[in-house]
Order: sequence, then C-alpha cells, then structure tokens
Amino acid sequence: MTQNEKKIDEFTGTETTGHEWDGITELDTPMPRWWLIVFYVCIIWSVGYWFWYPTWPTFSGDGERGGTVGSAQWTQYKQLEEAQAEIKALRAEYESRFEAASFKGVQSDPTLYAFALAGGKSAFGDNCATCHGTGGAGASGYPNLNDDDWLWGGTVDDIYQTVSYGIRSPHDETRFSEMPAFADILSDSEISDLAGFVAAKAAGVDMPDIGATLYADNCAVCHADNAGGDKTLGAPNLVDAIWFYGGTQGEIEAQIKKPKHGMMPAWQDRLSENTLRQLAIYVHSLGGGE
Ligand code: HEC
Ligand code: HEC
Repeated sequence: MTQNEKKIDEFTGTETTGHEWDGITELDTPMPRWWLIVFYVCIIWSVGYWFWYPTWPTFSGDGERGGTVGSAQWTQYKQLEEAQAEIKALRAEYESRFEAASFKGVQSDPTLYAFALAGGKSAFGDNCATCHGTGGAGASGYPNLNDDDWLWGGTVDDIYQTVSYGIRSPHDETRFSEMPAFADILSDSEISDLAGFVAAKAAGVDMPDIGATLYADNCAVCHADNAGGDKTLGAPNLVDAIWFYGGTQGEIEAQIKKPKHGMMPAWQDRLSENTLRQLAIYVHSLGGGE
C-alpha cells in the first residue's frame, strides 16, 4: 500500500481517499443524505432521552440506586415493584385462606390444593431437589419420596414434621434414632449369617436357621419381628426390596458392622410456615402419600 495524493476518479467523478493497493484506488463516496439526516435526528433524540429517562449513573439522582431519575419519573425498579405488588395482592387472597385451612381442608378445595402444589413444587426445586432429585426420586442415601415406602411415615402430618424438624438434625425436636454398630457386638460369621438372612428374607426366601435367632435377638426391636420396619424409629422395612444403602450381602454386612445414618436438615427456621405446609402437601402428592 502506498500513500498517494487525493485525486478525482475519472469514471465516477468522486474524490479518492488517496489509498491505493496494486493500482486499485479507494473512492471517498460521501454518506447518502437520507442516512445523515437519520443520524442527526438520532443524536437530537438521544439528548431528549437523557432528560426523559434515567440515564447517567450519579451518586445523587434516584437515591438508593444512583443514576439520574429523568423527568418521566420512570425506572425499571419501580416497574418491578409494581409488578411484584400485583402478584403479592393476587397471592394474598389465597395465602390467608390457605393459612386458615387444615391439611384436609386444603386437599378438598381444588383451588387451594392447586395453590399449595404450585408453591410446594417451587420450594421443592429451590431447597430439596439438590438431595432428593428434581422429581423427588432420590438417590443412594437420599430416600425416594415418590414411592409409598416411608422411613418416618407418609401422612401429610408425618411429612410436615419431618420437613420442619429434620432427621438427626441439630434441631431440638429432630426425628432421631441410631442403629448400633454391631462390629464389636457380633462376630464376623454371625454378621455374615445375619446379612444372608436379611437378603434371603427380602428375596422372599424364609430361612429358619441361625440367622433368624440372631435377627430376633438383635434387630427385631427396631426393624420389627417380620422385618417390616418401624416408622416411629425410622427403621427401614428390610423385606420390601427397596434399599436405602443397598441390598447385596456385602452392603448389608457393611450396614450391620458400621451403620450409615442419613441426615436431613430442619427447615423450620429457614422457610415460612406456609411454605412448610405447602411442601408437606406437595411431597404427599408425589405418589406415595399415606
Ligand atoms: C436401634 C434401632 C436399630 C437396631 C437395633 C438395628 N437397626 Fe438397622 N437400622 C436402623 C435405622 C434407624 C436404620 C436407617 C438408618 C438411616 O436412615 O440412615 C437402619 C438401617 C438398616 C439397614 C439399611 C436398610 C437399607 O434400606 O439400606 C439394614 C440392612 C439394617 N438396618 C439391618 C439391621 C440388622 C441386620 C440389625 C440387627 C443386627 C439391625 N439393623 C439393628 C435401626 C436399627
Ligand atoms: C442435605 C440433603 C437433604 C436436603 C437438602 C433435604 N433432604 Fe430430605 N432427607 C435427606 C436424607 C438423608 C433423608 C433420610 C434420613 C434418614 O436416614 O432417615 C431425608 C428424608 C426426608 C423425608 C423422609 C422420607 C421418609 O421416607 O420418611 C422427607 C419427607 C424429606 N426428606 C423431605 C425433604 C424436603 C421437603 C426437603 C426440602 C425442604 C428436603 N427433604 C431436603 C436429605 C436431605
């Protein structure tokens, strides 16, 4: 590229910019008039806009958020507040009715029930899905809330209590129980017999052998004589083939030797009373409510 003098192009009569590349020169065609007019109008328009709408970030202006207010007195924050107030007013009507109604009352009123499910679903997504999965399907160590297998009970009241106070949580009223570690109480071969007995029972095979006696002596107090579990103790049903920590011989032995204990946080101090009640109704509705 060489820097040449500006010339008038002989074919178009337009001035060139003076740039030339290998004999190709660049024309300096003026902007179209219509384009320039639009451009200047935009500049004039924007000056008006500065005064009309919130524009400049300043320390004075719209007090808490900074920025000039604008003569229209309009801000997005105000718009948001208005929209939120509208939603609040709409919700307030249901909320006071919901507050006054019992669980049964809510469940028998289709509008209130829909209101509770919507609120519960959204609170579940925000607070519970991290552990229990988006649809409450659970994972290893985190119970499935969709089935009708409950550790601590599946009535709305049971669920409300579980969610409010937690399980083995730091809350004073938490649900609490602890399976003892049998590693020091029973011998390895006894533990192996027991695990075999539990696995066989879960598979529907009855084994009236030494395992049965060990079970009756050590386990029935919590898991019940028929191994159907005890909801007042959060002791799982061992014969329903739904496993919390796994149902192989090895997994059962591990649980007997050194039990795992699930911890579920208490939500009473973190969520409003209405939200807790909505959650209880929502979880109950997931499919396994008692
Ligand atoms: C003091 C009560 C108590 C006693 C006694 C007890 N358990 Fe448990 N067991 C529990 C509790 C509570 C859980 C659930 C732990 C949790 O929720 O994290 C549990 C869990 C289990 C599990 C896991 C179930 C699953 O779904 O993964 C197995 C298996 C089990 N117990 C077997 C036994 C056997 C076998 C004995 C007897 C040697 C026994 N337990 C004695 C309270 C007890
Ligand atoms: C940090 C993980 C975690 C979070 C978050 C959590 N949970 Fe749990 N939840 C658990 C564990 C673990 C258990 C099983 C406790 C046990 O071993 O008994 C449980 C048990 C439950 C149970 C009892 C199930 C039964 O079979 O009796 C319910 C109901 C429940 N959770 C609902 C909720 C709701 C509703 C929320 C949201 C407000 C929530 N959980 C948030 C971990 C969590």
